[in-house]
Amino acid sequence: MKYDVDALTLEEKASLLSGHDDWYTETIDRLGIPAIEVGDGPHGLRKETGVDMVWVPATGFPTASAMGASWDRDLVRRVAAAIGAEARAEGVQVVLGPGVNMKRSPLCGRNFEYFAEDPMLAGELGAAYVRGLQETGVGASLKHFAANNQEIERTRISVEADERTLREIYLAAFERVVKTADPWTVMCSYNRLHGVHASENRWLLTEILRDEWGYEGLVVSDWNAVHHRVRALAAGLDLEMPGTGGVTDAEIVAAVRSGELPESVVDGAARRVLRLVERAYPGPDLVNGPIVDLGVPPGRRLSAEQLALLRADEHHALAREAAAGCVTLLRNENAALPLKKGRIAVVGAFAAHARIQGGGSSGVDPTRVDNALDLLSEVYGDRLGYAPGYVHKPMNAYQDDLRAYLDAHDSPFVDDGRGPARRSAALAEALRLAAAAERVAAGVDSAQAGRLIDEAAAVAAGAEVIVVFAGLPLAFEQEADDRTTLALPADQVALIERLAGLEATLVVVLSNGAAVTMDPWHDRADAIVEAWLPGQAGAGAVVDVLLGRVNPSGKIAETFPLAVEDTPAYVTWTGERGTVLYGEGVFIGYRWYDALRREVRYPFGHGLSYTTFAYTDLDVLIGDAVQVSCTVTNTGTVAGQEIVQLYVGDPDAAVRRPLRELRGFEKIKINPGDSVRVTFALDDRDFAYWDVAAGRGDGKFGAWRREGGEFVIEVGASSRDIRLRTSIDLPDDPKLAPLVPDEDLLKLGASRFTQGYR
Ligand code: BGC
Repeated sequence: MKYDVDALTLEEKASLLSGHDDWYTETIDRLGIPAIEVGDGPHGLRKETGVDMVWVPATGFPTASAMGASWDRDLVRRVAAAIGAEARAEGVQVVLGPGVNMKRSPLCGRNFEYFAEDPMLAGELGAAYVRGLQETGVGASLKHFAANNQEIERTRISVEADERTLREIYLAAFERVVKTADPWTVMCSYNRLHGVHASENRWLLTEILRDEWGYEGLVVSDWNAVHHRVRALAAGLDLEMPGTGGVTDAEIVAAVRSGELPESVVDGAARRVLRLVERAYPGPDLVNGPIVDLGVPPGRRLSAEQLALLRADEHHALAREAAAGCVTLLRNENAALPLKKGRIAVVGAFAAHARIQGGGSSGVDPTRVDNALDLLSEVYGDRLGYAPGYVHKPMNAYQDDLRAYLDAHDSPFVDDGRGPARRSAALAEALRLAAAAERVAAGVDSAQAGRLIDEAAAVAAGAEVIVVFAGLPLAFEQEADDRTTLALPADQVALIERLAGLEATLVVVLSNGAAVTMDPWHDRADAIVEAWLPGQAGAGAVVDVLLGRVNPSGKIAETFPLAVEDTPAYVTWTGERGTVLYGEGVFIGYRWYDALRREVRYPFGHGLSYTTFAYTDLDVLIGDAVQVSCTVTNTGTVAGQEIVQLYVGDPDAAVRRPLRELRGFEKIKINPGDSVRVTFALDDRDFAYWDVAAGRGDGKFGAWRREGGEFVIEVGASSRDIRLRTSIDLPDDPKLAPLVPDEDLLKLGASRFTQGYR
């Protein structure tokens, strides 16, 4: 190592273990140890300017839930590499992302920042992101470790989940990324797990992450997630962010001096900070980034020279390509899409002011924003009519003017100051404002709403096709808050209902970062396009799909339920009195709906194309690995991409397992009439569950067990559109002791669910 930890005094080592301020690590000038800057992501760079809510412009890419729907490892890798290049150009050395938390409930306000409800898909895409970013010399921060699945009470809620559930669902995506992509940093989450804050959770940060998974990088806290610095350090939390002005460094020094904390723990953590600095510091000439060297006064747009350094045009084009890979065609009755030429009514303010991202720390100030209305107007000219249809008052691409929104609906904001305390008074107020806007949106039937609906209906009368741009306002999807409903705002629902009553073909384009319900209008829409929160160039991708220039290829990475009451976490969401019980266990997302044989609006993995695919010739070869192959043929008339999904089920296990679990996927491009042979390799772990009672020989319990017997192998176009199915028999995993008989389990004393935990 270039920097030697032994050359540092105890005080200097301790000083490295917290930030200099919000975004920089500490320097040690005496030894020439520089600082590095971290900045938010993960959907584009958010570099702060020092002025509240004013950031240095950067390219806004589709958010993670959109990228999840692309199922495209290479696309995710390329987007992350572009974000890395922008970070270098703006002088940021670690980007705080990706987030690979599971979507336990569609209500979680931060689901738009997470890839999927399935750990394999989230883990694969998270790993691709980390690789792409780090290829550019910029570090990733895998977050939020772990079990941060709701925003309400996020800093203190205690997650109570059995170990099997944690291992199979909530830790698995992190494990995959850590083991296959080596993120330079891992960020601990805010919440508690079994009563212990993640920042102080030794089981999580040391036993699992380091001892079991072999992680050697740095563990950083989420911002202000540290409650007891010395306990956190002892548990494995290396770097506390933001800095505390030296207060917690002094606590560390005192703990070493009093013998409470071994100095070797400080050494290990300081060494990891130094290693990160070594990996990430680009040298004095590049550390500020050439764009910043040219000067970026807060609030000023980038100059042409700066945009060129950012490669803004190239990245905007990539953002459009990425969004095109994410757009998901949910419904297309009677080939309503692609659009035919003719008279078109474009309705919905999101067409004129695109919803591109969610709210909170992942917000990007985009270099530019495309709008569907402009792009469609270029094609349709005076055959296009437009009406906003509902109130939408954006201040900029990352903030809505909610006061103006409330005023427009005759419900001016009255701030009573009541509600939970937050990091800053401004954030607390912003959340109260958002809550007020959400309440109004849920039942809005103001005079203004009625007028806008009437006006839209008038514009739409006589059109051959109506394209409604609907979805969720920013206030519904933001950090530090959860949704209270899966429905669209009431005025939008009324608008769609009204338009559905007209003669024209009705196409609904949705902008939202997580599942929504579609009642009562769903069956009356001819086509439904899920555009997600598609980033600054998303409108171009949506228009390309509408016009048939791009054949849609996204598939939802989260189930769209029929009703919030159907969702797995419904009865325990968001916990009570500080605790949330993950009573549904491993059964989240499609695992839940499949177990209950429950109808859903759209199943995990669903997405249509303008072509069709046939699946044939399933083959399973059992050797060291289990090799599954099949042939996919494009049976339509246009080229398209299919996401081929492989699921495994274990119907006769000693524990209750999901009917099917995703164990492989490939996105393949096929020309009309052509066939492609797709092959997947499955290893032991793909058949295994976490056996809480398996002894490890060291007094601890719990191991991955491939239990011998029948396994169902399914290949399909979605979790509910299985095209090929077969069964195989596999023996018990020879490396493991036989299953513990149930009567022995009772003798183990502690509950089999918590056995081995801590
Ligand atoms: C968020 C993190 C983010 C950090 C820095 C926290 O509140 O949870 O995701 O990276 O702030 O902005």
